[in-house]
Amino acid sequence: METQAVIIPDLSGRTAVVTGANSGLGLETARILARKGMRVVLAVRSEDKGREAAATIEGNTEVRPLDLADLASVRAFAEGWEGGIHLLINNAGVMALPESRTEDGFETQFGVNHLGHFALTNLLLPHVAGRVVTVTSGMHQMAQGIDFDDLHMEKGYHPAKAYAQSKLANLLFTLELQRRLEEAGSTVLSVAAHPGYAATNLQGHTGNPVLHRLLAVANTVIAQKAAVGALPTIYAATQDVPGAALAGPKGMGGMRGAPALASRSEAAWDSIAARRLWTVSEELTGVRFPEKDLRG
Ligand SMILES: NC(=O)c1ccc[n+]([C@@H]2O[C@H](COP(=O)([O-])OP(=O)(O)OC[C@H]3O[C@@H](n4cnc5c(N)ncnc54)[C@H](OP(=O)(O)O)[C@@H]3O)[C@@H](O)[C@H]2O)c1
Repeated sequence: METQAVIIPDLSGRTAVVTGANSGLGLETARILARKGMRVVLAVRSEDKGREAAATIEGNTEVRPLDLADLASVRAFAEGWEGGIHLLINNAGVMALPESRTEDGFETQFGVNHLGHFALTNLLLPHVAGRVVTVTSGMHQMAQGIDFDDLHMEKGYHPAKAYAQSKLANLLFTLELQRRLEEAGSTVLSVAAHPGYAATNLQGHTGNPVLHRLLAVANTVIAQKAAVGALPTIYAATQDVPGAALAGPKGMGGMRGAPALASRSEAAWDSIAARRLWTVSEELTGVRFPEKDLRG
């Protein structure tokens, strides 16, 4: 299956920012958007890797540094931005890492997957005229809720739990951002996508060689190609979907296939938890929703 699974309009003259665009789903998302005429900014933590990736993309690309594990880098990226953004694709992510902390002392998966994108989105929102697409995971369903008493898992770290919680946070963020945009009278949409299971570098950082080998085999046998895994992101970014929508593959229980609207866990619809997470995220990052400066 190729991109024909989604009919993508011509996107010439528009700009997209794709985080983590040097590899996996981000690279394929950037490739598809550039092919449709967009100027795509690859927001990456390694400019060398970004340039290598950009060299494989046909079309108008630009590489800019962004380390989501460092709020100073997130601020520098946003401060250096000029002009409109039609699509902000919050794609970068890390999964099931050994316990570690970001520059600002956050548990890394929560810090990179959620807080980094939270800060980036709110800082860039005054430039955004189209959509914010946040990439989550079917694994959000493993989290019963956000553990507000131990957000950084100081009482006992569990790598898969931390990942699941960060991906639930992506969906709660999407929900509350949409509510705030509507309340502020903005036409910007906040939506989400999950890729099902796609063969990328994501599972290669667990620090567990046995698990690494198992996942490498699963990547070859079960996973779909990254180019297909990127389609739910493209669907959420370009198709006629409602605010706070979640797109995902419709085959094999949401693991593979063509994209469509997808379901999410009850915890991901919890609007009270979404508001609380927003407040805590504002406190942790020092970044607020830019109510008065919206474009859309
Ligand atoms: N693959 C799947 O089956 C699957 C399933 C569900 C959800 N997802 C989600 O899909 C998204 C993309 O992952 P992927 O599968 O494409 O994995 P990937 O190939 O490992 O790509 C992840 C990207 O995120 C970047 N990144 C990591 N930490 C970063 C940081 N601190 N600052 C900026 N960028 C950072 C990586 O940069 P480096 O190359 O420099 O490390 C890489 O470009 C993630 O949000 C993931 O949770 C993937």
